[in-house]
Amino acid sequence: MKEAIRLVVASVATITLITGCGDTYDSEEEANYQSALNTNLGSLQREVNYLIDAQSSLSLYTFDDDFLNVTNCDATCQQTWPIFTGSNTESTNIQVFDTNTSHLAYRQHSMYFFNGDSVEGDVNGDNVKNVWHLIYAPAGTNDSQTEFSQASNSMTQTYLTGVNSMTLYVYDKDDINVSNCDGTPDAMPLGSCEARWPVFYTEDLSNLPKGLDAADFGTIDRDLTKTLKDANGDPIATKQTTYKGQPLYYWFQDAKAGDATGDWVAGVWHVVELEAQKTSTVETSPYTAAAAALGEVIFTDPNKCASCHGTDGQTPPLGVDNVIAKYGDAALIDQKLKDMRDNGNPNNRHPAMVSIAQGLSDEAIINLSAFIATLKK
Ligand code: HEC
Repeated sequence: MKEAIRLVVASVATITLITGCGDTYDSEEEANYQSALNTNLGSLQREVNYLIDAQSSLSLYTFDDDFLNVTNCDATCQQTWPIFTGSNTESTNIQVFDTNTSHLAYRQHSMYFFNGDSVEGDVNGDNVKNVWHLIYAPAGTNDSQTEFSQASNSMTQTYLTGVNSMTLYVYDKDDINVSNCDGTPDAMPLGSCEARWPVFYTEDLSNLPKGLDAADFGTIDRDLTKTLKDANGDPIATKQTTYKGQPLYYWFQDAKAGDATGDWVAGVWHVVELEAQKTSTVETSPYTAAAAALGEVIFTDPNKCASCHGTDGQTPPLGVDNVIAKYGDAALIDQKLKDMRDNGNPNNRHPAMVSIAQGLSDEAIINLSAFIATLKK
């Protein structure tokens, strides 16, 4: 099995590292290594179902250029995006907003079909021109005219998060680079919009994690005459981070990473979608026991992975506090190896490990990942 793996020795420095396992690495590499990843911004994924017409089972969409209960999709536009019509039911989420057309809206957003869809499960209209979107409504908010897509048609959505991976939101009533959610007292919970939707601000927009582009982010000054003040009368937030010009907020009812309870609140608050893809359904795992057995041969070879990681994967490699037995998930380990090999090392891993990853074939990565996932955490 030795052919399955090619360990590449990239530089003299790497050789020193390999022989000197446990030593610290040279200063230039250390400087690179220490430029830590920005942890204020990131992303998470969630599986979402979307609204479909209960009769035809075709997908329904909203249009970003619409205002609340106003459609800006004219007759020509409607040839591509036929309006979804129906009648008022008990649901307050789905209502007719134009009695001439019987145009139905979800939380005051007009709903449309896409004429590029022909059967249930087609989602060809999603993110067209970045302004047409599927409706990921919170469960329980449909009515007799709509239903949720089947699990087999669900989508995996990647969305933007802030500190501690808490979900970030944008507000339909904001203008580009202007926040209209401030400390003006109101009769709703916590007494003001900004109290319910705390401002997100990060000073450092460099070194963003994979999938985020610094060019999409910016900073605005908040209007100090209106922004929420603390007990001393000082503004709680003087600046705010924006995504594509849209000010970013948290939602006070989210308690932990992965909560996205603010999505669609009042029809005007939304999570920030970075990407949405059909969830691939029946996928047979390549990380079989047979693969793990092949991976074990490579890994435990005293001249290979085991020389830094130990045969049981419990050794901090070259003294770095990254014990790989802790991962326990073959797909994750596979991704980590490929990030180093193919994706420009987005997590800034140690150069000695990067050059090793660069010598691994796809097959070796599968086998090694299958094995590493079996190590005792
Ligand atoms: C020369 C020493 C060395 C050898 C040999 C070595 N590694 Fe590593 N490995 C490291 C270091 C150092 C890290 C920690 C990198 C970091 O966190 O910056 C690491 C980290 C990793 C990680 C975690 C990466 C991440 O993103 O968290 C995996 C997986 C891994 N090694 C797999 C392997 C496999 C598989 C082999 C054998 C093909 C191997 N390593 C051989 C030094 C080595």
